[in-house]
Amino acid sequence: MNQSVILHTEDLHRRFGGVLATNAVNIEFRENRLKSIIGPNGAGKTTLINVITGRLPASSGAILFKGRNITDQPAHRLTALGICRTFQITSIFMGLTVFENVRISKQMKRGGSFRIFSKKASLKKVNGETWEILERLDLKEKAHVLSSNLAHGDQRLLEVAMALASEPKILFLDEPTAGMSPAETEHIAQLIKGLSEKISVALVEHDMDVVMAISDEISVLHQGGIIAEGPPEEIQKNQMVKEAYLGGG
Ligand SMILES: Nc1ncnc2c1ncn2[C@@H]1O[C@H](COP(=O)(O)OP(=O)(O)O)[C@@H](O)[C@H]1O
Ligand SMILES: [Mg+2]
Repeated sequence: MNQSVILHTEDLHRRFGGVLATNAVNIEFRENRLKSIIGPNGAGKTTLINVITGRLPASSGAILFKGRNITDQPAHRLTALGICRTFQITSIFMGLTVFENVRISKQMKRGGSFRIFSKKASLKKVNGETWEILERLDLKEKAHVLSSNLAHGDQRLLEVAMALASEPKILFLDEPTAGMSPAETEHIAQLIKGLSEKISVALVEHDMDVVMAISDEISVLHQGGIIAEGPPEEIQKNQMVKEAYLGGG
């Protein structure tokens, strides 16, 4: 089955002074597919996500969403189009419960105006959608827990839940398992895999067991450029990839 491309880049570059953090990147993301972006530290993974999601301007090249040029659009426009990413834990309101955090993200999506929630019906709808997301991420039981009391792994899950509330078509996740225990990592990996049944997921992940287990496709970055792409079986065997990881620099 040839899933359609939802987002792709054309000859994308991002320079920091003399450093080409993104170097001539042509990358495609497909609907209902999980693509992992891997590569050694400093390879340019975070920069690529920042440029694609509008947090950093491109130096040159283009980003296209469903064939439409979206280069240099502000982040909030991209979010509205359905191009979303998770942020670090700082985006969580620690004084609110899990449910309240997700519901706020939902309310923002519904126009950012809280006035419309004077209508009982729409509040009911938002509450229902909030429960659905908590269900998808196994957070239902913790709905009424204060976010500051969550374990680290559950806080990271809550970030993903809040991103899902904005109804992404493509979701970028930058090292969602960072700092997690092996059991938490295994859990979130399966949930992330599940997300890709409905949307396109782009995952930056350093745990190679996770990457190999859940990715449909992998793109390998090295010094800002893509050096290999393919399904996990191929990437695992790729000599250039082994050298990029083992050879340093
Ligand atoms: N804001 C910045 N200013 C200057 N250099 C940066 C900045 N962000 C990243 N870099 C450089 O760009 C390169 C890629 O970094 P990054 O995208 O963070 O890599 P990764 O996420 O793969 O570890 C590195 O050489 C890094 O030092
Ligand atoms: Mg990074």
